[in-house]
Amino acid sequence: MHYYSSPGNSMFCRNFMRPGIIQASLKTQKKIIAGNTRVARNVNMERLRSGYLFPEISVREAQHVEKYPDAKLISLGIGDTTEPLPDIIASSMANYARSLSTAEGYGGYGAEQGNKALRKAIAETFYRDVQIKETEVFVSDGSQCDITRLQLLLGSNVSIAVQDPSFPAYVDSSVIIGQAGDFDDKSRMYGSIEYMKCVPQTGFFPDLAKTSRSDIIFFCSPNNPTGHAATRQQLEQLVTFAKVNGSIIIFDSAYAAYITDDSPRSIFEIPGAREGSQAFVLAGQLFLKELSFSDGFPLIKDFDRIVCTCFNGASSIAQAGGLACLSPEGFAAVCSITDYYKENAKILRNTFDSLGLKVYGGKNAPYLWVHFPGSKSWDVFSEILERTHIITVPGSGFGPAGEEFMRVSAFRTQREYPRSREEAGKSLFIESKNSMVSAPSISKYTTN
Ligand SMILES: Cc1ncc(COP(=O)(O)O)c(C=O)c1O
Repeated sequence: MHYYSSPGNSMFCRNFMRPGIIQASLKTQKKIIAGNTRVARNVNMERLRSGYLFPEISVREAQHVEKYPDAKLISLGIGDTTEPLPDIIASSMANYARSLSTAEGYGGYGAEQGNKALRKAIAETFYRDVQIKETEVFVSDGSQCDITRLQLLLGSNVSIAVQDPSFPAYVDSSVIIGQAGDFDDKSRMYGSIEYMKCVPQTGFFPDLAKTSRSDIIFFCSPNNPTGHAATRQQLEQLVTFAKVNGSIIIFDSAYAAYITDDSPRSIFEIPGAREGSQAFVLAGQLFLKELSFSDGFPLIKDFDRIVCTCFNGASSIAQAGGLACLSPEGFAAVCSITDYYKENAKILRNTFDSLGLKVYGGKNAPYLWVHFPGSKSWDVFSEILERTHIITVPGSGFGPAGEEFMRVSAFRTQREYPRSREEAGKSLFIESKNSMVSAPSISKYTTN
């Protein structure tokens, strides 16, 4: 970029001396000084709509804090955890990090696919009953990055389907890789993406009879944002649909640990999900050996290649922590944190219920999906923030079917509230309850 910044550089002089473009050179001189290059913007990036949802919320949060510097902001927005790491996990990472300062303990890059012992522990802890082998487990730096790596693997020529509403990374990564087509402002959908409407009236599951075939189906359960965990019967229908169509399901089970009933924690619990030529992938961790492209080439081999090209392996310190999480003591400690957020979700559900608002989710997921009939969800976001200093997430940020809904996260600490946890939890929301109830524009959404 700096190459263009000086009027004395050779590119500038060459252009300047060519007759006919003197005017253009003078005109562009300003741009050159401002740092413009001659590189065209990626058209796929141009197709992306507005900012990514969560950065947009952060901007609004910062504006609110500036407006009300003394307000006690309660963030039930971005799904970010609040509780400290259990000591056993933090100590394992600290000890591992300390050992890196010794000749015996030091290690550089590990395997791109992850530490062998950790891959084995993941397969055994979560997938023993569904016969997943450690060689099918890839340890990564998070499933968000994996969604993009999977898109890189699949390329721009595949067609995709997403739940509507859905976690925004599926659609945005699809746009970036060039699968999505043009955005239609009226429908607020991309022309080449199949949006599978998942609303209360459909049991938060797509009407598959009305769903066109796609190569790839992104499916998230328990779902972010609706908090709905697909039932066994629903997943059986999905597997059959994918088999009939020769599609691949990318099953995102980021919140499986929150399932409290007998909903499947993994698509692999569904008979047939593994057998046959249509097999399935779990975003972030698993790749079935049997899964192949239409020419018979195994996806796992291409994925391995992508991983080795784009990634040098997860941090070895984080992997030491991961291994500690899967020890009996570590696992129990992690589960107690999950229980804490589940309790938050329960408190939130009760609060919204008592406000007379229709609330979904929060039983098998750390998210609640609250209905504000007839509303625009960004308006409700602003209203709740203004009146109660509570950050939520507007449902429309997850897709057109999210309009009229707000996502509320249970990832919130009760530590800063002075009384007992139970009472503290209540006081957290009573504040909001009073102001919400007293707000006529909110009470019009209630059912009692
Ligand atoms: C449904 C879903 N998938 C994937 C991710 C990304 O998770 P990670 O932290 O593993 O990158 C999130 C995070 O919010 C999510 O909600």
